[in-house]
Amino acid sequence: MSNAANAIFTKIDINGLTLRNRFALAPMTRVSATADGKATEEMKSYYERFAKGGFSLLITEGLYTDKAWSQGYIHQPGISDDAQALSWRPVVEAAHKHGGRVFAQIMHSGALSYANGYREGTVGPSAIKPKGTQSESYYGKDEFLTPRAMTDEEIADAVDGFADSAQRAIEVAGFDGIELHGANGYLIDQFLTDFSNERTDHWGGSTERRVEFLLAVFKAVRAKVGDAIPLGARISQGKTNYYYHKWQGREADAEIIFGALADVGADFIHVTEFEAWQPAFEGGSESLAALAHRFAPHIPIIANGSLHDLVRAEEMIDQGMGLVAIGRGALANPDLPRRAEATLDLVEFDPGLLVPVANLKARELEMA
Ligand SMILES: Cc1cc2nc3c(=O)[nH]c(=O)nc-3n(C[C@H](O)[C@H](O)[C@H](O)COP(=O)(O)O)c2cc1C
Repeated sequence: MSNAANAIFTKIDINGLTLRNRFALAPMTRVSATADGKATEEMKSYYERFAKGGFSLLITEGLYTDKAWSQGYIHQPGISDDAQALSWRPVVEAAHKHGGRVFAQIMHSGALSYANGYREGTVGPSAIKPKGTQSESYYGKDEFLTPRAMTDEEIADAVDGFADSAQRAIEVAGFDGIELHGANGYLIDQFLTDFSNERTDHWGGSTERRVEFLLAVFKAVRAKVGDAIPLGARISQGKTNYYYHKWQGREADAEIIFGALADVGADFIHVTEFEAWQPAFEGGSESLAALAHRFAPHIPIIANGSLHDLVRAEEMIDQGMGLVAIGRGALANPDLPRRAEATLDLVEFDPGLLVPVANLKARELEMA
């Protein structure tokens, strides 16, 4: 496939931050933090491998934002206080040492929370039980709870949780940027999605209203971190508990959602689908990444989904996407960018890595 002359190996700038190539590590929850949500020495070694292996940008696993209802999983890392934030400093410094940059992905699980050390029960936009079942890979074994519908005050508190976490991520941990987790069925996506948001107030109804929570979070975070910090959001149609969801408004919804992110000043948009190149909607031709690029033309798009197929990855860059984010392919090949540059074969991902639980495995750390 590739050699160093290809666009995928060229630099890109995100709001003044220069990334050495177009390969990003996709965010992956590995439920390996301490019980009180701190990053560990093992996690430092794990993340460091990707920077050493040539990834220009590492996006962390989703970090919970507050000590109310944001935590999703046992051993999920958080960024809800300074001690948790400080535990990420060595991770960021290790990545910097190898020329990598690191964005904190901040997330609130809402109705999809499996386990929360701070509060009983779950909350969401509406009292609707999530589809599907919990995954054993994240210590899940039960049905989802039916969440309680959030009050206006709880919505405001959740927004503040994102904003304060983002500030800690920058000022205490030293992260290079922030990704809001607006995808995969978590709280921001619960607001965005028709079947989990039946509110009739400011936060529900039309797509324009369902996107309001994302925009409120974005603006609150921007106010705390300032204009100079790279700030963007991850968006998907599918959910971890319901992969096949499609936006009912199709391209019109894409225009509202991606257009709103462009208008509010997002520095990047990260779009994920199972196979990033597939048409987003039945009978359509453009992928979700292509639609994001069309409706937010001046913003780097990070495309994700089975792009360890490097021919597809290069096509994404050639079509104008800013970066490709690689998940499973990176777990199998922490040095994927270096391998691609040297035209070496890639190791196939072994799903056994994530069972019985998706925590870090000794064999991964041996690859450090
Ligand atoms: C073990 C694992 C954990 C994941 N955790 C997260 C997460 O914390 N945040 C997120 O946005 N996506 C998460 N994802 C989704 C990935 O970022 C990515 O979208 C998915 O793996 C598809 O990309 P790939 O085909 O390159 O693997 C996770 C995926 C895996 C395999």
